[in-house]
Amino acid sequence: MRIDVLTLFPEMFASPLAHSILRRAQAAGLVEIVLSNIRDFAADSYRKVDDKPYGGGSGMVMMAAPVFACFEHVRAQAEEPGRVILLTPQGQPFSQAIATELARQPRLILIAGRYEGFDERIRLGLGAEQISIGDYVLSGGELPAMVVIDAVVRLLDGAVGDENSVRDESFSEGLLEYPQYTRPEEFRGMRVPEVLLGGDHKKIEAWRKQQALDRTRQWRPDLLDKNNPKNNETGV
Ligand code: ADE
Repeated sequence: MRIDVLTLFPEMFASPLAHSILRRAQAAGLVEIVLSNIRDFAADSYRKVDDKPYGGGSGMVMMAAPVFACFEHVRAQAEEPGRVILLTPQGQPFSQAIATELARQPRLILIAGRYEGFDERIRLGLGAEQISIGDYVLSGGELPAMVVIDAVVRLLDGAVGDENSVRDESFSEGLLEYPQYTRPEEFRGMRVPEVLLGGDHKKIEAWRKQQALDRTRQWRPDLLDKNNPKNNETGV
């Protein structure tokens, strides 16, 4: 998979891309992440990339021309056209389902905005989809782009050591994860639940499923699909 990122701050990506799963996935050739600086494509000698909004109002708007020039340069670097995604609070809320779908694509082109927003012609002219990572406003799309990259890359085959750990975790089955314990058996008076020490795998599985359901009901009842009886009864 190839992921292009168009940004005014490519340096912001250095640390997240240089550690843990993202570093290993790149080293193993599962993903190639190419950062491009939109400012390198500004037309004037001031390297101007933003301007005042037509109609007045506060703040600055990202100009269409440098983004288009950067995009066209980047797109030509690989045959695959790719899914073009703007990171913006106006976008579709990001989810595990969207991450799973994006992980199947051969190429993503992520565009991170700064300032008060993008000139609307960027979205229209590039036929871009929009993704938001939540209902709050960040200073730019760089952190959201990193969130999307992390969630997508760890789903690529071979990125995470144990495939079961990706399958079992929160959200992949629409439920929160069951509680986990490791040694010692007792810590500050709190004991590991007896069932986990017994070695009866059927019992452990049933307990975990029940815990996942109970926690989802308590903390994230919105996740429980009323039409999915599987999520309302353990059947054990
Ligand atoms: N840019 C600024 N805030 C954002 C958000 N919540 N999601 C995606 N991009 C953003």
